[in-house]
Amino acid sequence: MLVTGGAGYIGSHACKALKQAGYTPVTFDNLITGWKDAVKFGPFERGDLLDRARVNEVFAKYKPTAVMHFAALSQVGESMQIPGKYWRNNVFGSLELIDAAVEFGVKNFVFSSTCATYGDQDNVVLDENSVQLPINSYGASKRAIEDILANYSESNGLNHVIFRYFNVAGGDPDGEVGEFHQPETHLVPLILDAIDGKRDALTIFGTDYETPDGTCIRDYVHVCDLVDAHVLGLKWLEDGKGDRVFNLGTGKGFSVREVMDAAAYVTNRVVPQIEGERRAGDCTKLVSGSVRAETELGWKPNRSNLETMIKDAWRWHQNGHFEK
Ligand code: UFG
Repeated sequence: MLVTGGAGYIGSHACKALKQAGYTPVTFDNLITGWKDAVKFGPFERGDLLDRARVNEVFAKYKPTAVMHFAALSQVGESMQIPGKYWRNNVFGSLELIDAAVEFGVKNFVFSSTCATYGDQDNVVLDENSVQLPINSYGASKRAIEDILANYSESNGLNHVIFRYFNVAGGDPDGEVGEFHQPETHLVPLILDAIDGKRDALTIFGTDYETPDGTCIRDYVHVCDLVDAHVLGLKWLEDGKGDRVFNLGTGKGFSVREVMDAAAYVTNRVVPQIEGERRAGDCTKLVSGSVRAETELGWKPNRSNLETMIKDAWRWHQNGHFEK
């Protein structure tokens, strides 16, 4: 089982879940945003997806029968400032990986996509059949990879499951791995940084959105629930059930202010805050409107309530970090 991005936040949690399910997750990661210390559940191979010879070497060494592809640049804000970086890394890198998978006879491919592929669609229920109109380069790069997979399924018989994540938060309750980005750009860890003085304040990116409290709304899903769905997705492919797209969200939206309030409640601390400008590329509201993962995969998210996610993130935040 090859796991690209296995040294990253979601990939490392996936490796733990895969190991628990009886697989041997081989991490392939360039460590640009990932951490060697986070690779705890299987072999590690350092490399870049753009380096096809290195990718081939790893396929030849381990002969994986399936690939889980997490490796990507994933910052919405940065993708608007440096779009070429996202197109090159995410799309070209994925193409090399997909070509190698076909060359080495891999049949099953699980891909991390995003609700950012839907874009800003007001009052539309976002299910897997919704039109994809990304408003940032990150979402556009992920949509392009979805298209590549559809083509390769048709032409090369590469079966795939695509997961469109909503906003991932929380961490391993055992504290073996957790969310740790350098620099950090995600809302929950930034709020926790502000709470314990690691940064001066949380800047709210826009307070004039057309939402009840003026701040953006997102659907938060616990990373452990998210990776459980990946194991189910892999089994789906192993059972020969064919290509499928699944949203991974809870269907409940929380505004930036609501997340801050929940963090203040869980930690019993004040969140120092500043009201700032909108961040380019941000959608007003992204909330899943699908229960396909529950009904078809049998996915049962059990840690994805806001308080549990923040509690797990807070525990990790106080004790955990990685070093290169
Ligand atoms: N936000 C702030 N202040 C900050 C950071 C974030 O107000 O300092 C706001 C954002 O504007 C947004 C919300 O908090 O409204 C969540 O922002 P994140 O950066 O945590 O997450 P994004 O929604 O931008 O993107 C994340 C992942 C993507 C994924 C996407 C799906 O980074 O990989 O969720 O929505 F695709």
